[in-house]
Amino acid sequence: MDRDCVLGTHRVLEPAGALPQSAWRLDNTPVARSNEVLCSVDVLNIDSASFTQIAAHCGGDADAIAAHIRATVDARGKQHNAVTGSGGMFVGQIAAVGAARADRDTLVPGERIASLVSLTLTPLRLDEILAVDIATHRVRVRGSAVLFASSIFARLPADIATDVALSVLDVAGAPAQVRRLAAPGQTVCVIGADGKSGVLACAQAKTRVGPAGRVVGIVPNGDSPGAQLLLAEGYVDRLVVADARDTLAVLAAIPAALPALADLVVNCVNVGGTELASILCARDEGTVYFFSMATSFTAAALGAEGVGKDVTMIVGNGYAKGHADIALQTLRDRPPLLAYFNARYGARP
Ligand SMILES: NC(=O)c1ccc[n+]([C@@H]2O[C@H](COP(=O)([O-])OP(=O)(O)OC[C@H]3O[C@@H](n4cnc5c(N)ncnc54)[C@H](OP(=O)(O)O)[C@@H]3O)[C@@H](O)[C@H]2O)c1
Repeated sequence: MDRDCVLGTHRVLEPAGALPQSAWRLDNTPVARSNEVLCSVDVLNIDSASFTQIAAHCGGDADAIAAHIRATVDARGKQHNAVTGSGGMFVGQIAAVGAARADRDTLVPGERIASLVSLTLTPLRLDEILAVDIATHRVRVRGSAVLFASSIFARLPADIATDVALSVLDVAGAPAQVRRLAAPGQTVCVIGADGKSGVLACAQAKTRVGPAGRVVGIVPNGDSPGAQLLLAEGYVDRLVVADARDTLAVLAAIPAALPALADLVVNCVNVGGTELASILCARDEGTVYFFSMATSFTAAALGAEGVGKDVTMIVGNGYAKGHADIALQTLRDRPPLLAYFNARYGARP
């Protein structure tokens, strides 16, 4: 049997020659072609930068947000935010498995999975939008999606609630990359420390740098539940309350918060305009990891040049080997963090 393209180029409708992520429009026909997996979809987890942009555009109105998402998916065959360029991921069930898939025997229809590739490249069809949860950026739907041979996914864990797993898996790259990049004795600064990826990054960073190291979080609001968790559990040594878009405010806070500038800065915010503050928190020849999807390559590159900072800047690859297991294990190893995620991101009425 002929196999379709491993990367899913057979689903690209326009422009010709594009890959699914960069394509404007995908064929979202709900059938499993030779090496595809067709899934029924229950929940979309819209990535935070995208949801924040859509919510602002729609004046925070849930019905308008639903209509916006519906219009995007109807027009493009995928949930690809044209402003932020980002997507999110889905949870659903395996519905049908293509006849040419090598892993066909291991894929059981009805099994619940979470996609680990972006919705910006996932053929998606929405039959109905049931509810939009503004607090968690989750959208309950009836629909279908297609995974290509190259599309990674995770089976949902039995010991962690589905909604919590979805929230954690969406940002799984952050704790996994921090675990890889941070080293004992180092100083790590996490910007947007009290969001999903931020608290996971802080928890991993604290373990990695050890007692001789230091983790500093920057948050816009020191009273948030995430900020309180970071302090109570010692996932940060110090919390700085500052708007990271206000570069001068961050600059003023640095001498007290980061007397030795950070070896590693992790940007986990969901708004634009924080590139320069991130760069200024890093030591010369340090590393800045831009996990945020609101990052501007131009602002980061020209900003570093403009302040004469020789730093290594890493684009936030959402994938790192073993990232799903590392992210879920970050919760399992830290019961207070798991309790926080259950309370904040667990099933809601
Ligand atoms: N690289 C990837 O593959 C990938 C995958 C998924 C998501 N992302 C991106 O990663 C980022 C974080 O995602 P998330 O799910 O962790 O988001 P989140 O839970 O919404 O957290 C965002 C954090 O940024 C903080 N923040 C907002 N404005 C700020 C400011 N001006 N100064 C300092 N902090 C500020 C927020 O604080 P408040 O809550 O107090 O406003 C919040 O703590 C987003 O840009 C998202 O799109 C990347």
